[in-house]
Amino acid sequence: MKMTDKKIIIAIDGYSSTGKSSFARQIARKLSYIYVDTGAMYRAATLFCLKYNIISDCGLNVDKIIAHLKEINIEFVFNGATRQSETFLNGENVENKIRNIEVSNHVSAISAIPEVRTQMVALQQEMGKNKGIVMDGRDIGTVVFPDAEIKIFMTAKLKIRAMRRYNELIQSGNNVTLQEIEKNISQRDYTDSHRDTSPLKKADDAVILDNSNMSIAEQMNWFEKIYQSVIEKQRNEN
Ligand code: DC
Repeated sequence: MKMTDKKIIIAIDGYSSTGKSSFARQIARKLSYIYVDTGAMYRAATLFCLKYNIISDCGLNVDKIIAHLKEINIEFVFNGATRQSETFLNGENVENKIRNIEVSNHVSAISAIPEVRTQMVALQQEMGKNKGIVMDGRDIGTVVFPDAEIKIFMTAKLKIRAMRRYNELIQSGNNVTLQEIEKNISQRDYTDSHRDTSPLKKADDAVILDNSNMSIAEQMNWFEKIYQSVIEKQRNEN
């Protein structure tokens, strides 16, 4: 990459647990771009609702959530020690609280509420206004940045995704079974793809990456070719 190359927006969408975050983070590191995990934002909003009993196993009080939306303040703060951005909810570092199965079981319902999406999308667009950003989620190429220069749609076999997420959760000390992880992932795929507002779908101009049998190094090689062709095109246009 040359310093004179114009910064672009890289939008990564796809099914749950396809490794979007690891892939997006690597790309951001390589290009010295900002990385934004939009799933973490919906997860933090879900944690807020759980904490203040706005959702419980008895159900979801949508009016109450909307009434409290302005109290949900989400930021990303770079941690120099881990060299990663961490999610903060109202000033508290919630990075280690937003990936548990309770949050995972409620996040699709919270993220289907149009008012929640409006608030998050506005924040995401603000974060990307100067470009030089890699953002991953479900509606980045379709809604948040429909003009993104690179759009990638990630997929992988369900069993492989479930196993990857299970291993991650076990390693970070969570007590879960492979069956409940597989159930959660397939339910989220369904809810995320069938909601009325900004459902998960491939943008017409996105390229598909099925990484079922690919290492991260192979995925980076794949990306490098796409990035070079986009940058080459930009150079020729200038
Ligand atoms: O990427 P993730 O699995 O951490 O995302 C958690 C949930 O948040 C996902 O099931 C759907 C929702 N989400 C969304 O609706 N839109 C996004 N841009 C990102 C995530």
